[in-house]
Amino acid sequence: MAKTKTVYICSNCEYKAVQWTGKCPSCNAWNSFEAQTEAKTTGKTLTQANSSELGKVLQKFDEFDAKPAARYVTYDGELNRVLGGGIVPGSITLLGGEPGIGKSTLLLQLALSVQKLSVLYVSGEESIEQVKLRASRIGQPNALMSVLAETDFGYLEAAIKEVDPKLIIIDSIQTLHSPTVEQTPGSIPQIRECTHRLMEIAKKQNRAIFIIGHITKDGYIAGPKILEHMVDVVLYFEGDNRHHFRVLRSSKNRFGSTGEIGLYEMQGSGLNQVQNPSGVLLGDRHGELSGIAIGCTLEGIRPMLIEIQALVSPSQYSTPQRSSTGFDPKRLGMLIAVLEKRCGLKIGLNDVFLNVTGGIKVADPAIDLAVIMALASSYFDEPLSSKSAFIGEVGLSGEIRKVPQAEKRLKECEQMGFNKVYTHNLVENKSKKLKITGLQNVMELIRSAFK
Ligand code: TYD
Ligand code: MG
Repeated sequence: MAKTKTVYICSNCEYKAVQWTGKCPSCNAWNSFEAQTEAKTTGKTLTQANSSELGKVLQKFDEFDAKPAARYVTYDGELNRVLGGGIVPGSITLLGGEPGIGKSTLLLQLALSVQKLSVLYVSGEESIEQVKLRASRIGQPNALMSVLAETDFGYLEAAIKEVDPKLIIIDSIQTLHSPTVEQTPGSIPQIRECTHRLMEIAKKQNRAIFIIGHITKDGYIAGPKILEHMVDVVLYFEGDNRHHFRVLRSSKNRFGSTGEIGLYEMQGSGLNQVQNPSGVLLGDRHGELSGIAIGCTLEGIRPMLIEIQALVSPSQYSTPQRSSTGFDPKRLGMLIAVLEKRCGLKIGLNDVFLNVTGGIKVADPAIDLAVIMALASSYFDEPLSSKSAFIGEVGLSGEIRKVPQAEKRLKECEQMGFNKVYTHNLVENKSKKLKITGLQNVMELIRSAFK
């Protein structure tokens, strides 16, 4: 008989090891290794399906008619857009984000506002009184909403039978626990078991479920990676705690695109949707100051004008400081090198601070040109016109690259009252109000902007 071999598999990231270890070398999770015997046989034969059983699962594809389920369109236009048009009945959505960012507020607001839909809000972190107090700040109560302040899965199942909710909100998955599993709440096996049970409830009973998940220091949803594979939609709620803007992003969506974002403003009375992002983000500008340039980022189908602020100042230390908020620091390093090498700006010995205002993170390379111009404007201490915008990706040799959907971005600039846009030289100008200066590289732009 062949010898059975035992391997240890990390239940968080599925890393395989030949020996048990306390800490996974791949994902750094503690106590996550489980022994598994490779290729264990059960001794059973394959299932013998008869034709009537098979008929339920096998279909001639072109004869099969699938109607998309009507979605629950919520009052929250931002959430609807990120989800791809509303909540899909029977779907399961994971919402991750740092503590205090507003996850509970977002979903409580949702629960309160979906009138005519029975909702069960499971609060494992706050008492019913706390939820009630928070709800009173946010708005009108939903008469069909019930709150369960218990973390035992047995209670949850009983509550679902009692309330028959169409929408269930779990705040949070780390507090829920199933007595069938030995480990403590928040442990990987518990999270996996509870999510599995929730999935069965969502699919078999056609209830939409939102799960709040905490994130780790590295920014991932705490718990097994397979959690993200199991659910239909993964949303991240992010922003800077010191700013009031919050961005809702999806990193996985089985029912829509992942490019869309939702923008909110945290206020005393909960989260407000931001309908006109450019207007709000450019809201409090104070005249023309050096080190400020306006760029345009496209999030999904929505263009947003954003202000980039840079400060370039002589360093007090032998190793100059580089600090970047909302923009990839490595990309900032690359753009500084382009300015040094291609345009001859001696930024290297200066401290450089870069800030995307509003506490928003931007990954769209189309704002490269605005970053370059903010840096150069601070270096020369010369302000740029507050009516000019800069749109383009910048390559290593200083060339300005064309960006996708340039037309949409230009339209946004026009709507926001800008009169001049510097961009790639092949961008067509269909606007009468905008003057477009097309350039091939950064050197030309710097030469013409700072004489
Ligand atoms: P919360 O939803 O509890 O965050 P999370 O569930 O992600 O941990 O939000 C917490 C923060 O939001 C808290 O610091 C206070 C602030 N807040 C407001 O500014 N206005 C409000 O109306 C509410 C309800 C919260
Ligand atoms: Mg919370």
